[in-house]
Amino acid sequence: MVKRIGVLTGGGDCPGLNAVLRAVVKTAMMKYQYKVIGYRDGYRGLVMNDFMEFKAGDVSGILDKGGTILGTSNRDNPFNFRVENNGKVEYVDMSDKVVENVKAHGIDCLVLIGGDGTLTSARDFARKGLNVVGIPKTIDNDLSATDTTFGFMTAVDTATDAIDKLHSTAESHHRVMILEVMGRYAGWIALASGIAGGADVILIPEIAYDIGKVSEKILERAASGKHFSIVVAAEGAKSTDGEIVISKVVNDSPDPIRLGGIGNRIAEGIEKLTGIETRVTVLGHLQRGGHPNPYDRILSTRYGVRAVELASEGKFGLMVSLQGDSITSVSLEDAVGKLKTVPAEGELVQIAKSVGVSFGD
Ligand code: F6P
Repeated sequence: MVKRIGVLTGGGDCPGLNAVLRAVVKTAMMKYQYKVIGYRDGYRGLVMNDFMEFKAGDVSGILDKGGTILGTSNRDNPFNFRVENNGKVEYVDMSDKVVENVKAHGIDCLVLIGGDGTLTSARDFARKGLNVVGIPKTIDNDLSATDTTFGFMTAVDTATDAIDKLHSTAESHHRVMILEVMGRYAGWIALASGIAGGADVILIPEIAYDIGKVSEKILERAASGKHFSIVVAAEGAKSTDGEIVISKVVNDSPDPIRLGGIGNRIAEGIEKLTGIETRVTVLGHLQRGGHPNPYDRILSTRYGVRAVELASEGKFGLMVSLQGDSITSVSLEDAVGKLKTVPAEGELVQIAKSVGVSFGD
């Protein structure tokens, strides 16, 4: 019998996190009369026993708010946790301590909200015997076991709005405008916003680009009287020589590589090969902030409600998932460790090519 649920948000923040928390807390408290504990700052709260008990009003007025009222972290892995002893940094497996804490607090189920890193630890806690339900979050939409992660559609809205605005300067000044978007090793945000915003060139990690071909496309447009072009580049886009552009390495992060800088790299190449003035906008964390759009508010609510229902049914070791129009669940064992990338020959790439988009291939 479940009586007490623990919840945390892990990894990068993402539009819809508060909407999920609201759905989890409201469903648990109102439908099932469970108590809900919220751990602060992702797995750090679970390891350090830093938590709050939700009261009825705590999730009021947060459906439309960006960020997460619990805080989050994309640095803390409970199975390899950074601790500092007398100035010496060590990485320690704190998972047994977490299991002890969870049992000591009488938590019957943990609802863990995050991307692949958070959900991999969720799977590992399930293997250690904890009752766990996962909820898939990331603007990157790169989790293989769900059709859509919450946060992605809002990020696409933000990127599409940016492309719409960049058209003004591109057209007025006869320039090439490059928009660099996030997505890590998957091109979903670039592809979706590029199609929605009418980009002329879309560069994604799944299709290696040749800067010569990108420039040819821009010159062809100029020759046909279109003296501007819009390029959307995913931060993980790769050139045919296999090069990706890294902005920094965050050493104490479970996934230390931070991508960034591809926009400037491409701009140099385009200016050199076309002679057309080229400018870069890096959209960055604007894609993670602000109000979730209605799609994400609804998806987050569906995920949150279903996660608590699974707990009430005694079904654990699962991740809630969107398959077609239905919310279902998949084993955490099958849900993690596999990136969902853009199929290079898939329908979205084909329709983009049909309307004249170049992928630089
Ligand atoms: O996974 C979400 C994401 O925003 C990626 O698209 C991006 O590469 C990364 O996180 C950025 O991480 P940080 O917030 O640490 O810069």
